[in-house]
Amino acid sequence: MKVLITGITGFAGSHLADYALARGGVQVFGTARWRSPSQNIEQIVDKITVIDADLRDASSVDSLVVDIKPDWIFHLAAQSYVVSSWKVPSETITTNIVGTVNVFEAVRRAKYSPRMLVACSSEEYGFVKPEEIPITEENALRPLSPYGVSKVGQDLLSYQYFKSYGTDVVRTRAFNHTGPRRGRVFVCSDFAIQIVEAQNGLRPYVSVGNVDAVRDFADVRDVVRAYWLALEKGEAGEVYNICTGKGYSIREVLAKLMAVSGADVEVRQDPKRLRPSDVPLLIGDNAKFSGRTGWHPEIPFEQTLSDIFDYWRQRI
Ligand code: GDD
Repeated sequence: MKVLITGITGFAGSHLADYALARGGVQVFGTARWRSPSQNIEQIVDKITVIDADLRDASSVDSLVVDIKPDWIFHLAAQSYVVSSWKVPSETITTNIVGTVNVFEAVRRAKYSPRMLVACSSEEYGFVKPEEIPITEENALRPLSPYGVSKVGQDLLSYQYFKSYGTDVVRTRAFNHTGPRRGRVFVCSDFAIQIVEAQNGLRPYVSVGNVDAVRDFADVRDVVRAYWLALEKGEAGEVYNICTGKGYSIREVLAKLMAVSGADVEVRQDPKRLRPSDVPLLIGDNAKFSGRTGWHPEIPFEQTLSDIFDYWRQRI
């Protein structure tokens, strides 16, 4: 079986490639933007085929789909950092929405029907009322960032392609996921790096933004297993939350990372780290996905944080 992962050098993409190879019996192909850093795939680079492609360029997507004819496509490539989406809103919308259209159109023009997963996001729920917790797939979508809007666009395009053309697409709304290789700008990596730097005498305190926000964190290795199951067992046209059902405030996440590190570093809020609007509360209900696939998260959050801390300690 041939599997194509868009964004294979990224965080989730590289873990998904590891998972696919470990299962065996699959040929793994992936797209990466020209000159994107490849350290996340260096352990598997001789076992996969990486194609330079910019998904905003329809013709390059067309040719790679025709050349590979993948049986499954995991569409993970995206501008995934919420903060950047305020700085470069049109680029976020173009990469995420036009990039998704180009993948769908390439498949349609190739006149065949691979199974596809489009990685959507809990950021689509945006402003969630406390009485709506835990969030089900039926919840209203009230995105609070251009990134959230772009993910609503990907999500609804997937629905529309399924309805218009019968495209065999499953939508997943992953809540926060983290683990080793998580980009430096995301909260768990950002805090872990700062703590290690403080322990090494490289900075006097840890800077934080809004620590009142609550997020539902899953381990990326559980999430990529969920992505696989979504294509093995998910129903075309449907949308599934991928989450643990447990929420932690960012303040609690920082305290847990401090405990893992054994450090007690001073913490200061930096107003520059506050967002124009931050999603206050995201805790999901995974009953629909678990009922369909039998998936449950397996890796405890404390283990994930400890792995993140070790990852950065080895690199700083
Ligand atoms: N990055 C960062 N740095 N976040 C901070 C900080 C800080 O210093 N201080 C507080 N936070 C808060 C943010 O305001 C946010 O509420 C939370 O920590 C998590 O921030 P991120 O790790 O940047 O993730 P996100 O929740 O905005 O988005 C992630 O999850 C989405 C799924 O809900 C990303 O992975 C998205 O790509 C993903 O779709």
